[in-house]
Amino acid sequence: SKVRFVQPDGRDSVIEVVSGVSVMLAAVRNGVPGIEGECGGCLDCATCHVYVDIAQVAALPSPNDDEHELLATVASPRKSNSRLSCQLKSPFPTETLTIYVPEAQS
Ligand code: FES
Repeated sequence: SKVRFVQPDGRDSVIEVVSGVSVMLAAVRNGVPGIEGECGGCLDCATCHVYVDIAQVAALPSPNDDEHELLATVASPRKSNSRLSCQLKSPFPTETLTIYVPEAQS
C-alpha cells in the first residue's frame, strides 16, 4: 500500500509502505515533517496525530479504547477523521491512503 502525506501548506509526498509498517513509522523513516511519534508507537504520546481523508477513514479498523483516550490530548484540533498514525498499519483498505498532517504535534 501507499500513503500520500499532505502537509498543511498543500505540499505532498507519496511513500510505499510495506506490510506491517505503520503510517507513523513510514513518515519518520522517510523524513516526512510533522509526524513525530515520540513514544515509538506504544500509544503514549499522541505526537503521531493525523487527519485521514474523510472518504477513507471509515474503511480503516476502528480505534481501540487507548487510542480514543489519547486522541483527547492531541495538540491540533481533534476532528472526526483524527487518528493516531502509529495505529494505522499497512496494508490499507485503499491502494493509496491519503493523510493530512496537522499544524502542530505539541
Ligand atoms: Fe506515540 Fe503514536 S507514536 S501514540
